[in-house]
Amino acid sequence: MSTAAICWTEDLRVGNHAIDEDHRHLFALLDNLRHTMPTGLVTQQAAVIIDDLAEYVENHFRREEEFMLRIAYAEYPRHKAEHDRFVSEVHALQSRLARGAQTVTLSIDQMLSEWLRRHVLVMDMALAESLKTSS
Ligand SMILES: [Fe+2]
Repeated sequence: MSTAAICWTEDLRVGNHAIDEDHRHLFALLDNLRHTMPTGLVTQQAAVIIDDLAEYVENHFRREEEFMLRIAYAEYPRHKAEHDRFVSEVHALQSRLARGAQTVTLSIDQMLSEWLRRHVLVMDMALAESLKTSS
C-alpha cells in the first residue's frame, strides 16, 4: 500500500503559469487515484480517474509540444519521446482494465508520480527556461 501523499510541491514550479497549473492538476489526479485504490484493487472510480488522467495528460503534453514547436526547441524530439512513453504506459493500463483486470500494480500511482516529478524537474524546467529566454 502506498502511504506517501502525492502532491505538487513548490520545487516543481517551472515558472510558466499554464504548465504549472496543468502539473498541479495532474498531481491532484494521481492523488485521487491513490485514494480510490489503496490496496491496488481496481474500483469503478479508479478506472474513471485513469481515463481522466489519460485525457488530461495528452492535452497537457500537446500544450507543451506546441510551446516547443513555437520556439523551434532543439530538445523537442527527446522531450516528445518521453511524453509518448508515458502516454503509452497509461494506455497500456487502460487496456488492461478494459480487458477486465481487477488489480493493477500496487504502486502504479506512485510510479506515475515519480516519473512525472523527474520529468518536470529535468525536462519541463529546461523547457520553461527556454520559453522565458525566447519570448
Ligand atoms: Fe513535458
